[in-house]
Amino acid sequence: MDKAFAVGEAAIGQDGAETGMRILFVGDVVGRVGRRMVKTWVPYWREQEAVDLVVVNAENAAGGNGITHEVMDELLSAGVDVLTSGNHIFDKKEVLQFIDDVPVLLRPLNLPEGTPGHGYVVVSKAAVPVAVINVAGRAFMPFQYGDPFRAVDQVLAQLTNEVPIALVDFHAETTSEKVAMGYYLAGRVSVVVGTHTHVQTADERILNGHTAYISDVGMTGPRDSVIGVKPELVIQKLRTQLPTRFETAGGPGQFAAVVADIEERSGVARSIRRILYYE
Ligand SMILES: [Fe+2]
Ligand SMILES: [Fe+2]
Repeated sequence: MDKAFAVGEAAIGQDGAETGMRILFVGDVVGRVGRRMVKTWVPYWREQEAVDLVVVNAENAAGGNGITHEVMDELLSAGVDVLTSGNHIFDKKEVLQFIDDVPVLLRPLNLPEGTPGHGYVVVSKAAVPVAVINVAGRAFMPFQYGDPFRAVDQVLAQLTNEVPIALVDFHAETTSEKVAMGYYLAGRVSVVVGTHTHVQTADERILNGHTAYISDVGMTGPRDSVIGVKPELVIQKLRTQLPTRFETAGGPGQFAAVVADIEERSGVARSIRRILYYE
């Protein structure tokens, strides 16, 4: 770079492209194995692959359900910048004691008025501020969430031009509701990622030439499991229909994530790449 830029002029890199920001989003981190995978791979992506911002869905980070202060600190010290969540956010009661005081730990935006915690945050850890928004779907979900489309609209209306990049974690069950949210936000936010099913989809793409999208990022947790739980327990419950206490699986891990490259000034996503490592 041998040229000074006037204020308001897009910064151009040596390759002629606008300066980019790289965001790593890691899908639902489940239990001890998931945390071990975060501690292995997040530093690698930060240091070797020049990731600027790391967002992790942490709703299952503590023993498979919820999050504690200790587990949150463990993830933050591994290089995570923002923690999103979903229907499991309040499973560990202690979260109610601190969620109001930790702006980078999000719960779904579309919960009743007065619910502790926040549904979005603007972080300024990279070159430009980034809004991270966490919202839950309504199809086949265990809670009566408010309209997720309207909830995101309300946040976007509050964001100024000072925040050119927004990422939405849409925590939902059905691919159809997620694809609909992707198109609803296409051109208005930089990234829409789905979470909650714990199974990665292969439909990553750029919507309307602007918005990086995937229906589900998948799970970061125990590889040999039924979405995180010991397989034999899930099979027993499905076959007998009797109450069964689920236990989070151990053993080898998997790391599921996406990395998106975004133009800093315009917020346009140039690419989205899907990551799925198995031990
Ligand atoms: Fe989850
Ligand atoms: Fe969930």
